[in-house]
Amino acid sequence: MENVTTLGEFIIERQQDHPGSSGEFSRLLSAIRLASKIVSQQVNKAGLLSNIVGAVGSENIQGEEQQKLDVYANDQFIKALTKRKVVCGIASEENDDFIPINSEGTYIIAMDPLDGSSNIDVNVSIGTIFSIYRRVSPVGSSVTEADFLQKGTEQLAAGYVIYGSSTMLVYTTGNGVNGFTYDPGIGVFILSHPNMTTPKAGKIYSINEGNFCKSSKGIQNYIKYAQSVDPDTNRPYSGRYIGSLVADFHRNLIKGGVYLYPSTSSAPNGKLRLLYECNPMAFIVEQAGGTATTGRKRIMEIDPAELHQRVPLVIGSAEMVDKVVEFIKEEDLEVTEG
Ligand code: AHG
Ligand code: MN
Ligand code: MN
Repeated sequence: MENVTTLGEFIIERQQDHPGSSGEFSRLLSAIRLASKIVSQQVNKAGLLSNIVGAVGSENIQGEEQQKLDVYANDQFIKALTKRKVVCGIASEENDDFIPINSEGTYIIAMDPLDGSSNIDVNVSIGTIFSIYRRVSPVGSSVTEADFLQKGTEQLAAGYVIYGSSTMLVYTTGNGVNGFTYDPGIGVFILSHPNMTTPKAGKIYSINEGNFCKSSKGIQNYIKYAQSVDPDTNRPYSGRYIGSLVADFHRNLIKGGVYLYPSTSSAPNGKLRLLYECNPMAFIVEQAGGTATTGRKRIMEIDPAELHQRVPLVIGSAEMVDKVVEFIKEEDLEVTEG
């Protein structure tokens, strides 16, 4: 174990990268680490527990069925983050409103405690996504909505946990991206993917093609482009779509590729949420050398209007994202000219 760096050691080593010098930020990361371990353990035995698997019978604010594990993960993260006292407020996919925590705390968290929850019952990878900001309201007061409605460019850190064939935690504080794999035998995350970078281009495109007929002409034309044969540009690309953003993103980050959740006729702003899905992934991808856009605007420059706002997302390898944007712009041009 001599040459191994654990997440705990890494956090201490990189203390200087963290905002504030008091170790508060490290305490925050260690809360996330603890909750991830607990959720990971529960996810691994989800198939065994009939009281965990399945719908809880209620719906969240977006009218989606909440799964029991969603609620469990939400509780675990909130509990761990509350205990550390450095967090002043949490916004979660599973809570209609933000939750004020310790008014003396400095940090704001936005999170998707369980992403890809439709995959829980069928043993397919799921994840947790988080985004960390410094509050804008004065310390000592109660948090306000404005604390949460900050642009993605203001993020201090962002990360995700993937509960896959192994559990991994990947995060950035704006100084590169590092990935840690969980060793359940000794209960620690180990630095397995230092300084992660994403290829400029790959050969994977990830989109729910069931929405083809509901998609814009630009997106339809891109899908046809991805499918056409051109060995010089590695086409046809491989279509890969898991239906868990975390898992699709993680694979594309490592192999190179592009993930799209564009607007459709039934979901004009797409499906994914700006604060706790798009912004954190955008921060990570940019730190790894990739890009993230709605097709018309850089994700991290969007001024959020509401907590559960949705935006279209095109994210991944820079050259592949650029190509999608070309198709979207071409369509915009046709619409204005025609
Ligand atoms: P969540 O489980 O947190 O609600 O997120 C599900 C999201 C995302 O993970 C995934 O990429 C997308 O929904 C899949 O949507 P479709 O089933 O419409 O393709
Ligand atoms: Mn999600
Ligand atoms: Mn979720």
